[in-house]
Amino acid sequence: MIIGYVQTDPIFGEKEQNFLQIENLLKDKKADLIVLPELFATGYTFLSKEEAVNLAEGLDGITANFLKKIAKITNAVIVGGFVEKGNNNKIYNSAMLVSKTDLIGVYRKIHLYYKEKLWFSPGDKQIKVYEINNFKVGMMICFDWIFPETARTLALLGADIVAHSANLVLPYCQKAMITRCLENRVFAVTSNRIGQEARGEDNFTFTGGSQIISYNGDILSSAPEDNVYVDFAEIELEKAQDKKLNEFNDLLADRRPDYYSI
Ligand code: ACM
Repeated sequence: MIIGYVQTDPIFGEKEQNFLQIENLLKDKKADLIVLPELFATGYTFLSKEEAVNLAEGLDGITANFLKKIAKITNAVIVGGFVEKGNNNKIYNSAMLVSKTDLIGVYRKIHLYYKEKLWFSPGDKQIKVYEINNFKVGMMICFDWIFPETARTLALLGADIVAHSANLVLPYCQKAMITRCLENRVFAVTSNRIGQEARGEDNFTFTGGSQIISYNGDILSSAPEDNVYVDFAEIELEKAQDKKLNEFNDLLADRRPDYYSI
């Protein structure tokens, strides 16, 4: 099975141009699962909630349609981040999972970073895992990496692969995801962006370094810090389905939740 990512350099607010960059990068590429960055169509550094609301979409907007088109071109299911329009003027930092014909699932980011708390409502839906053909995939978004509960919950729900859309600004996540994979025996694809957004009081440099990590913590692919990039890895999915570290230890069965109560 082939899984991969696109590392982009989006222009703030220019959805069509950002779509085109991805379409060009994925032309002639085939895979089973491809992950795109968090907020890949809009950019990240909003100045106000109103600005984010104006870029928000429902589940059948131009971003969903674009993702379906990419799924068709690549034969893959696609995960990508977007500003989701909810009820009561709420918006969410979300990711959707689509096939060429269907919206399969949506994840609303649970752990919001920094000023995201000013515009987005925190995710209000349970973490879920989706079964597609022969594999199980779950989504998380960027800063969720620093809460190990997120990846652990996905693993306990049976995820083989964690699709991690990101707009990373801190330098720690790429290393931390090695541990997330090792401790859960899951594969992870982190799709990050590059470039800089200086807007209002903020000036973010995104750290690139998108990566594919194996169930045992091996780095199967690592993108540069400052270039647009696409890469794929062939994985042995069954490795994530066996949680045995050795003949005595099973990483999920050996947990002792009776002793974890606070
Ligand atoms: C982040 O969660 N986008 C830093």
